[in-house]
Amino acid sequence: MKWMIVKKAEELANVSYQLMKQEILRHPEGLTIGLATGSSPLGVYEEWRQDELDCRHVTTVNLDEYVGLSPDHPHSYHTFMKEHLFDTVTFKESYLPIGNTADSHQESERYEQLVRTLGIDIQLLGIGSNGHIAFNEPGTPFDAKTHVTELTESTRMANQRFFDRLEDVPTEAITMGIGTIMEAEKILLVASSERKAEAVRDMMEGPATVDCPATILQRHADVMVVLDEEAAGLL
Ligand code: GLP
Repeated sequence: MKWMIVKKAEELANVSYQLMKQEILRHPEGLTIGLATGSSPLGVYEEWRQDELDCRHVTTVNLDEYVGLSPDHPHSYHTFMKEHLFDTVTFKESYLPIGNTADSHQESERYEQLVRTLGIDIQLLGIGSNGHIAFNEPGTPFDAKTHVTELTESTRMANQRFFDRLEDVPTEAITMGIGTIMEAEKILLVASSERKAEAVRDMMEGPATVDCPATILQRHADVMVVLDEEAAGLL
């Protein structure tokens, strides 16, 4: 695992976006980028929106979506991605799991196949304060494929800030599994603020355990972790 510690949030966004951009420029024939939601990648998306980089050869696949929310629901991850990136940057194609299908398990299988067919060249990741990646909560097997997962109370509370009330935060999500994420050629994980310090320390220094899903990344051959000083505070 390689890592980089920067002073401020703006630097974190800039350094991380530049790493993404390098990948995009390295693959003029086309590539697939795995994208994430949450507050961690917001700065990266801001840099991306401001740059006038041609991304028409780039396919994107997101990590997850809430079960029960339609793509046009104001709090869906579809809407989040549209607002923060897709409305401004033109990609070849962009995919997220569909949250409001009749059968979420079937949708998970379809999405897993899609991701495997595309193959992810670089995956952008955040980390939850309980060490989750995408919506793989503690206890998720390391070989999990895309699946429906029940969100922990702490994750629902952490994500409440994007909703009006805690009751509005969905209780389930469709998420790429840890095994799906580990298939990506490269992984770029970004974390900022002291809220993440403990999870970051466990991810980088702790034993690989399902209790902290991000620890699996120690076994990936090409991971870059970009941290601000607060997130790196316990290293
Ligand atoms: C969410 C997302 C994750 C994200 C994490 C951290 O639940 N499903 O992909 O990495 O929580 O969120 P944030 O960046 O807002 O702290």
